[in-house]
Amino acid sequence: MKKVKVGVVGVYRGKSMIDYCAQDERVKLTAICDIWKDGLNKVKAELNDDSIAFYDSFDEFLKTADMDAVVLANYATEHAPLAIRCLKAGKHVYSEVLPVQTMAQAVELAETVEKSGKVYAYAENYCYMAAPREMKRLYLNGDLGEFEYGEGEYFHNCEPGWADLTYGDENHWRNRMYANFYCTHSVGPLLHITGLRPVKVSGFELVHNKRMARMGAKGGLAGVEMVTLENGAVIKSVHGVGISKNSVWYSVYGSLGTAESGREAAEGSGHVSRIYTNLDRYDGECVDRLVAYNPVDSLSGRAMANGHGGSDFYCMYNFISKLLGEKDADIIDVYEALDMFFCGLLGYRSVLDGGAPAEIPDFKNPNVREKYRHDTACTDPDVAGDKLIPSYSKGNPDIPASVYKNMKEKCRIR
Ligand SMILES: NC(=O)c1ccc[n+]([C@@H]2O[C@H](COP(=O)([O-])OP(=O)(O)OC[C@H]3O[C@@H](n4cnc5c(N)ncnc54)[C@H](O)[C@@H]3O)[C@@H](O)[C@H]2O)c1
Repeated sequence: MKKVKVGVVGVYRGKSMIDYCAQDERVKLTAICDIWKDGLNKVKAELNDDSIAFYDSFDEFLKTADMDAVVLANYATEHAPLAIRCLKAGKHVYSEVLPVQTMAQAVELAETVEKSGKVYAYAENYCYMAAPREMKRLYLNGDLGEFEYGEGEYFHNCEPGWADLTYGDENHWRNRMYANFYCTHSVGPLLHITGLRPVKVSGFELVHNKRMARMGAKGGLAGVEMVTLENGAVIKSVHGVGISKNSVWYSVYGSLGTAESGREAAEGSGHVSRIYTNLDRYDGECVDRLVAYNPVDSLSGRAMANGHGGSDFYCMYNFISKLLGEKDADIIDVYEALDMFFCGLLGYRSVLDGGAPAEIPDFKNPNVREKYRHDTACTDPDVAGDKLIPSYSKGNPDIPASVYKNMKEKCRIR
């Protein structure tokens, strides 16, 4: 069998995809790249495999590595420039979250994917968790009826791990991100379940609290997006790293009833992997038919050992299947990826605009994109130019240098 040759960029989060390659006989991991030499050497020693080439320069990696596809697990704000270079070099791309940093990058990414004819898959793994996966199956089967309302939550109190995640670098993307930035774990699954396009977003920003100040993060503790879909349905998406307790939770309200995942705190019952449904057999039946189960499919057994409730497995599995010609392999393409991210990017614009709703453009239409070609607004001064926006809508908080010094000292991995 012809194997798909894969190269991975970024060895921290990227380790999950590196480990995946060893589990899929359809894949050969040929190259690994990271500018962090100690991290690269550690992975090299651990894998102890002479058939894999190791690079500390992306330029060299792209120029000389023998690969069909590149997995991008580099900084969340720098995926688009590398994805564009990979696509232009004839490689398929699997991009970690988020797909782009600016609207201008979104234009360039969409155009490059179209011109390249290569596969671009967005690694929004939360779409493939057991409960949202089952919700999608129920929705496509017609069991939920028409989608009317849904909620997605991704709260992760990252304070305990912040030192390792940001290594005391004030300018690490996690310290500079605005509250609505990291939105696709919450809104993504709802969009993927329904396949509906978001058309309008109103954004909200929670305050910059003491936890964010202790972490050295400059944005609000969480973001909220109220998203209107093309059929008039509404999604509430909430997410943040500065909240006190964690929650991964999804709910769908269809014309035939509801489906929701278990709450994080409901340990012992399958919690986030469990689904609770209450479905009518026909519109207007209106009886309670409560069912709870832990959904499984033919890949669940293999997926279990992988990260994020096995969702990391499905995401890569579908990407490889797509490359091997499986037309219906369940990947998230560039347009869907951008739809997911625009909810946060434009949600924050709505915050900056006093809560006025922002239209979400349909990037499948090239004419619609034109307006955004030079829209570089973001929180990274090197990319934004004269369109720099603050990480916090009320102005960036003053964080003393001692906070970053403390984080640097606490970091155990770099
Ligand atoms: N989907 C998920 O569940 C999930 C979980 C964690 C992280 N992530 C995503 O994974 C990505 C990486 O996150 P992380 O936690 O590893 O932290 P990170 O963003 O700090 O690390 C990125 C890694 O890429 C390397 N890197 C950066 N630029 C590079 C370049 N030009 N060439 C080669 N290597 C480069 C860095 O040295 C580092 O090791 C982010 O996009 C993050 O959003 C996703």
